Amino acid sequence: MTKTKSIFSKDFLWGGGVAANQFEGAWDIDGKGISQDDVVPYVDLKKSTDIPVFDNREIIEKGITDTTNIYPKRFGIDFYHTYESDLDLFEEMGMNSFRTSIAWTRIFPNGDEEYPNEAGLAFYDRLFDACAKRNIKPVVTLSHYEMPLNLVLNYGGWKNRKVLDFFVKFSVVVMERYKEKVEYWIIFNQINSALTDAYLSLGLIKDEEEDIEMAKFQSIHHQLVANAKVVEAARQINPRFKMGSMNYEMQAYPATSKPEDMLNVIQSDHAQLYMSDVMIFGDYSPVMKRYFRENNIQLVMAEDDLAVLKKNTIDYLAISYYLTTVRKAEMGNMLDKIEWNMDESTRNPYLETSEWGWQIDPIGLRIALDKLTTRYNGLPIMIAENGIGYRDVLTADGKIADTYRISYHKEHIRQMREAILDGTNLIGYHPWAPIDIISAGTSEMEKRYGMIYVDQDNLGYGSKKRYKKDSFYWFKKMIASNGENLDFD
Ligand code: BG6
Repeated sequence: MTKTKSIFSKDFLWGGGVAANQFEGAWDIDGKGISQDDVVPYVDLKKSTDIPVFDNREIIEKGITDTTNIYPKRFGIDFYHTYESDLDLFEEMGMNSFRTSIAWTRIFPNGDEEYPNEAGLAFYDRLFDACAKRNIKPVVTLSHYEMPLNLVLNYGGWKNRKVLDFFVKFSVVVMERYKEKVEYWIIFNQINSALTDAYLSLGLIKDEEEDIEMAKFQSIHHQLVANAKVVEAARQINPRFKMGSMNYEMQAYPATSKPEDMLNVIQSDHAQLYMSDVMIFGDYSPVMKRYFRENNIQLVMAEDDLAVLKKNTIDYLAISYYLTTVRKAEMGNMLDKIEWNMDESTRNPYLETSEWGWQIDPIGLRIALDKLTTRYNGLPIMIAENGIGYRDVLTADGKIADTYRISYHKEHIRQMREAILDGTNLIGYHPWAPIDIISAGTSEMEKRYGMIYVDQDNLGYGSKKRYKKDSFYWFKKMIASNGENLDFD
């Protein structure tokens, strides 16, 4: 019998994605500094609908002095101490890649030190060596919502050009250190979430900004220049490096066939893709130049910024994909306001929605991949995140029947295949997440994404024991067939 040839390349990256601040824990160990996430508390959304908004200094400073256990990102799932046994499970699943981030605060605890923290560097040496031992390639994010808090409180976040220099210095230190251990880099996680998230993406304290919109665009400019400078340095350090950066991809549909609604969708694409346009084409798009001109936004630039952007473009685009949205003219231009509002009236009646209101849409992934392939002339694309948060149930005999998660991944992989047939150069798939971790948005543990269950509640209580979910076994078989077989008995 001839073996069916897989549509996925033989070196396709089948992995899993996580971020340091959501799973390493050990927030104050081995010299680590305090980061933005370390002061974000868990809020019981059954009792309150309010996720705290980090728009003033008081809320941040309260977090610094509070020693209670309501800050889940401080303890994560303690991966800092369990990485060997967790990687064993990843290896057993057949993962050949593992997307994680380096915590900036482990290397430069306050961001502005002259010399890096050796204990922090040594941890990632151990981690990447442990990956190599298991033939797992690390895909390493340099900035994943994890800036030293000192740079937020005392430098004003990314709008300060000094932060750009600190970030490039940090990136050069780690790229030098791990040049033989890491090949794939993602410079910024979801760089476009800066459009809606001043604190975690840009380190801005909204109430302290005279003009938050201006501060937003200036900060984004600094991130784009930092991105280009990191690419430039990477080419010198190791020409074999593959340098990518990442967008969240949230395909929008028009609420009606009204031309104005469709125009709003197109404008939201221009907005969400404006940073990847710069990172891939090396310049701001005509739409953005028009927007800046008509809104009197004058970015402060160094003399060579535009040349640096032009020269140093990325090798591949990484994306996260979870859900799609519906837009209508009345919502206005996404570029105009930093607040994100998942408006009830924008529900898509054709899609199912998770308990957390995320609309499940596998075909949307194919639409997005087709769109990005056309816009970016076939540039390689890596799926750095895709998954679904559920409230899993652990039975007395240690089982988790997460058929919903299997079905989610299965249907998305089916659409990846369609996109490849349509011409997408897809290089990897990283479910978020191989193991349960703390949610970025709500700091909960109960919103579980993993294929491995971690026995721990929202406040960190529990045995921390790991259990293989049904999706673990499904993912393992699927990887063994290189994505060819999705249906198993
Ligand atoms: C992405 C982030 O936006 O979504 C991750 O890059 C995050 O950090 C993931 O965990 C899922 O979101 P949440 O809020 O459900 O954890």
